[in-house]
Amino acid sequence: MKLVFIGPPGVGKGTYAKAVSEKFGIPHISTGDIFREEIKKGSELGKRVKEFLDKGLLVPDDIVIEVVKQRLSMDDCRKGFILDGFPRTLQQAEALEQFASPEWAFLFQARDETILERLGGRRVCPKCGAIYHIKYMPPKVPGICDKCGTPLIQRKDDTPEVIMERLKIYREQFTPIILFYKERGRLVEIDANEQADKVVPVVIERLRKLY
Ligand code: AP5
Ligand code: ZN
Repeated sequence: MKLVFIGPPGVGKGTYAKAVSEKFGIPHISTGDIFREEIKKGSELGKRVKEFLDKGLLVPDDIVIEVVKQRLSMDDCRKGFILDGFPRTLQQAEALEQFASPEWAFLFQARDETILERLGGRRVCPKCGAIYHIKYMPPKVPGICDKCGTPLIQRKDDTPEVIMERLKIYREQFTPIILFYKERGRLVEIDANEQADKVVPVVIERLRKLY
């Protein structure tokens, strides 16, 4: 099962990818999570990408492609993978074909106001990466991760200005990527306007039909 999950920021890619990863036992690889982890560690890579993430800009293709190539060469990816947030440019889509051609590209779409509300209410666990929403997916104890008890935080790029910048970049970059997979007959479109407990079963059902 080699999948890429694409779609605008905040549509729920990470949420659906985590659910599919648990269901089918294939790794969920989020380029955003990898970069945030490296920034937290203060690594060389983290220092190189920090400014891009803080401003909501795309990390240069050569850096992202190398990171994904290395991650996909690891043993746990032999059974498959779910790439979340990659590819984001046509160059990344073309590069990916060279080392791990995905079988299906799932495109998630939702209305702008839905996306803005999702990003505004998102809270994440800085320790285990669990994703919550203050209204739609609240933790049992407000502000505390259900899974590991860590206080939840708001992502640094979830401020109104950075959200607008991320959406603008998405709109500039995405048409060619969607066409890239559509022309190859590998695009699966999912309406993500509904709540996650409705969207996740739709994704799983589609996957069962495809595999
Ligand atoms: P990244 O981390 O990939 O951010 P993104 O694409 O902007 O996507 P998000 O993580 O914001 O949203 P999501 O769709 O995963 O939504 P989520 O499931 O959290 O990238 C961050 C940065 O890294 C980029 O800006 C760039 O700088 C860099 N980067 C990463 N990849 C790169 C690449 N390939 N090239 C260059 N640069 C790159 O859900 C959102 C909220 O909604 C949550 O609160 C959730 O609980 C809630 N929710 C989800 N689904 C539903 C639903 N159906 N109903 C109600 N609530 C829902
Ligand atoms: Zn946690």
